[in-house]
Amino acid sequence: MPKNDFLWWRDGVIYQIYPRSFADSNGNGIGDLPGIIEHLDYLNNGTPDSLGVDAIWLSPVYPSPMHDFGYDVSNYHDIHPDFGTLEDFGRLVEEAHKRGIRIVMDWVMNHSSHEHAWFVESRSSRDNPKRDWYIWHDGGGPGKPPNNWQAVFGGSSWTWDEATGQYYLHLFLPEQPDLNWRNPEIHEALFDELHFWLDRGVDGFRLDVASAYYKDAELRNNPFRLGLRPYDRQHHIHDWNQPETHGVIRDLRKLLDQYPERMAVGEVSRGHIVEYYGNGQDEFHLNFNFDFLHQSWDPRGFQRMVQQWETGLPPGAWPCYVLSNHDVTRHYSRYAAGRWSDARAKVAATMLLTLRGTPFLYYGEEIGMRQGRIPHAQIQDPPGKRYWPLYKGRDGCRTPMQWNDWPNAGFTTGSPWLPVNADHPLVNVAAESQDPNSVLSFYRRLIWLRKATPALQRGSYTSLIGQPVGQLAYLRQTEDQAVLVCLNFFSRPATVEFDPAMLPTLGWRVLLSSVSREDDRVLGSRIELAPFEACILGGV
Ligand code: NOJ
Repeated sequence: MPKNDFLWWRDGVIYQIYPRSFADSNGNGIGDLPGIIEHLDYLNNGTPDSLGVDAIWLSPVYPSPMHDFGYDVSNYHDIHPDFGTLEDFGRLVEEAHKRGIRIVMDWVMNHSSHEHAWFVESRSSRDNPKRDWYIWHDGGGPGKPPNNWQAVFGGSSWTWDEATGQYYLHLFLPEQPDLNWRNPEIHEALFDELHFWLDRGVDGFRLDVASAYYKDAELRNNPFRLGLRPYDRQHHIHDWNQPETHGVIRDLRKLLDQYPERMAVGEVSRGHIVEYYGNGQDEFHLNFNFDFLHQSWDPRGFQRMVQQWETGLPPGAWPCYVLSNHDVTRHYSRYAAGRWSDARAKVAATMLLTLRGTPFLYYGEEIGMRQGRIPHAQIQDPPGKRYWPLYKGRDGCRTPMQWNDWPNAGFTTGSPWLPVNADHPLVNVAAESQDPNSVLSFYRRLIWLRKATPALQRGSYTSLIGQPVGQLAYLRQTEDQAVLVCLNFFSRPATVEFDPAMLPTLGWRVLLSSVSREDDRVLGSRIELAPFEACILGGV
């Protein structure tokens, strides 16, 4: 493989930043763009002392009344003052690009904020020219919404607007009215906004709720199914995943293809992911596979998911894996096992970073950040407030980044918008940088090894264990390189026997292990693994 065909979104590692929680430069308790700029060298300074990521995805930084912490955009072409200014953003792009870090913006075009000027106009009167930019309907009058659709965050998807005597649709909060993609003016307006960022050097977009742009033209009721919450008690066949949505995504792909090396990654419904790759070349470059977010610590489950992905994607489509994000419990806590928790985190990291596909990291996972415990009175997340104690919301995975052992973990000199995790005196970047056995040191070695190993980026994937019980083992291969990845998911030592016919060589050298091994050579078709060992070997 020629060395110079590196394509950042396919071969690189992408790191999600939740900007409110990453680094606060001005002491107001909220992370901001200058704070991110100050830590770019941490992310990649070109040497293995840094993490070595190739791109950052920023959760929304646009003006917003923050009912859903930025996923309710009130202006698509500016920066919220909490995060900084457009000048700060320009500086971020410039400084990131200097370090080879690409910038991915979150793009929320299923809905806007109710404070967006478009919605303010739309709701001002029934004959306003922007009335049809959102989805309005008479229903049967107050108390009788147009259909049975339920909002993800609870309650009906329809809110009655007293002033104009109609309902408007929102798949999330009432403060997040859905845009009407059946109106071509919406298409034009949102694509214009995209140009604004593309022309500022943005390298890619993460498309929020991308499988819901279109709704059923006749607004038919969803059929019933069994479930816990009202939202789960219906099949969402009429409010999500309508065929017309693919037209928007194909148009987006055409737009991005006019610029060099631009990328779009879709947040689409589980169970429909493959559809949003189109023919592999004409829809999203990547779609998040959220299966791992729901997978318990069981190698069989992981293997099954990878296998489905490996066989199910259209030709040319590229997989994409993720273990944590701003919507789910952090995987360190999901997979915690007392004194073995760090060891498990290293196994999980090795899997994420050595499978065939683009890995997305979530800020803090590289230091083993745990899910935060947020007292009821301090909950910020709207669904957390609504459903507590049944569901405590998403604040626990959004707590401030832990930089050092100072008060507030070096995140802010002020009062942080969410409490800092109590473990920060031990779990932090500064302390872990001094410890060669820390989770952070392991992530660094792993990412830099991946960078230097074409087989781990582009190589084929072959599973070596048909029915895994406690271990996973797979090969990643290019024409001239073979890498063997072995993962022990259990606290007992294990011997893994391979079918020699499956191996390209019987001589292997350990490139990286999560434990210290006596011998860095493995000869033959069996390997001994220590408890929770993650081991990467190169063919010799
Ligand atoms: C998905 C985002 O990841 C989530 O944080 C947000 O609340 C919803 N979309 C609504 O935009």
